[in-house]
Amino acid sequence: MALWAGRFSKEVDETVNAFNSSIAFDARMYAQDIRGSIAHATMLGDCGIIDKSESEAIIQGLESILKDLQDGSLEFDPNAEDIHMFVEAELTKRLGSTGKRLHTARSRNDQVALDIRLYLRDEMQNIKKLTLELMETICNIAGQHTETIMPGYTHLQRAQPITFAHHILTYAQMLKRDYERICDAVGRMNECPLGSGALAGTTYAINRQQTSDLLAFRQPVENSLDGVSDRDFCIELCCALSLLMTHLSRFSEEIILWCSWEFKFVELDDAYATGSSIMPQKKNPDVTELIRGKTGRVNGDLMTLLSMMKGLPLAYNKDMQEDKEAIFDAIDNTELCLKTFIPMLRTMRVLKDNMRKAAAKGFINATDCADYLVKKGMPFRDAYKITGTLVAECIEKDLTLETLPLEDYQAMTDLFTEDVYQAISLDTCVRERKSYGASSPDAVKIQLQHLHEVLTEYQKL
Ligand code: ARG
Repeated sequence: MALWAGRFSKEVDETVNAFNSSIAFDARMYAQDIRGSIAHATMLGDCGIIDKSESEAIIQGLESILKDLQDGSLEFDPNAEDIHMFVEAELTKRLGSTGKRLHTARSRNDQVALDIRLYLRDEMQNIKKLTLELMETICNIAGQHTETIMPGYTHLQRAQPITFAHHILTYAQMLKRDYERICDAVGRMNECPLGSGALAGTTYAINRQQTSDLLAFRQPVENSLDGVSDRDFCIELCCALSLLMTHLSRFSEEIILWCSWEFKFVELDDAYATGSSIMPQKKNPDVTELIRGKTGRVNGDLMTLLSMMKGLPLAYNKDMQEDKEAIFDAIDNTELCLKTFIPMLRTMRVLKDNMRKAAAKGFINATDCADYLVKKGMPFRDAYKITGTLVAECIEKDLTLETLPLEDYQAMTDLFTEDVYQAISLDTCVRERKSYGASSPDAVKIQLQHLHEVLTEYQKL
């Protein structure tokens, strides 16, 4: 019999019961549900809404339920409507009518809004930690490769030479923003909806500040309807996770390319690659491919949440029960991807000779050749055109800018002298890109230093 059965003259249809139930996926919030109820019961006792002795008995009862769930001596009832009903029913089973007093001045609407916030706040500790761990892993690899030269690409065409450190630190910068976005989202959701009641607040003289403080929220939600009717915090967080996954996915895509025979810039450790059932030579980057795939799934979760909310009138509607599977799926998968990606990256071998060889091809120093003329006084557009003509000549003669004879250079303009070869050498091209944030070893070391400072600061939080 449901706890709300009084108004009904019939049992609810079995199919509807099963359809309605969320215990299969909201049971994971049991610790948060109990923590919220303990705060509520404490406040009810302190405000004299229930007897102090009953409040204490309820708290003890809730603590024993928590312990029994943790050690496995109590199992979830799959027929319960949701985790909130399950805990309350179990409490009443243990305490009799005292247990029935817990739900005074509270509704499941503010209860569930509270539980999700508590749950997300807890879970994000882990995701934040993993995000910093990944940033640190990237920084450590970058520290070993400030002098490793590789081709930088635009349109996946070789563009200008860069350092491998510079390339991968791009991902550390993205992850830094991801970390900050998660902190922002968690900061904004850190208001306590408990006491909003079903929608309109309550006639009991409750103390919302107390429950908010007990549960370490910044303040109680200002508007009780708002407290129970929005899930923008789930959406915002899911969006932050989608972006994080998008960054992991782009990094994964690059690693997939780099593992191919066409690139051969990196090699994955055998523990993080898989073979083929038919082709004995294969070593496949499945981990990175799965991360790329799961990004689509997390983006799907975000769409689920946005679409679920877009037409809902205020305040609570049962549609909102659908928030949990989506946001939980996003969290589970992001966490799983981070956990797998970090050791995979840490053990990945960087094949610097292949990177350098690739950088030596593709006229990657053409910009530097034009810049050489500009530094000798020629307007950039003219220098650009001359260099383009020289590249075409090299292609025709199967030469590179490094091997093109000086006479050919001088046939275009006598601004070219012997020092052009020095100016367009790969090492010069990279070393001279020393503007703030650029690719030279010196500039990258400054960036790395800043990232280390950020990491130290964030790891303290
Ligand atoms: N299981 C419900 C959910 O997840 C709890 C809130 C139910 N409230 C209600 N008025 N039926 O949203």
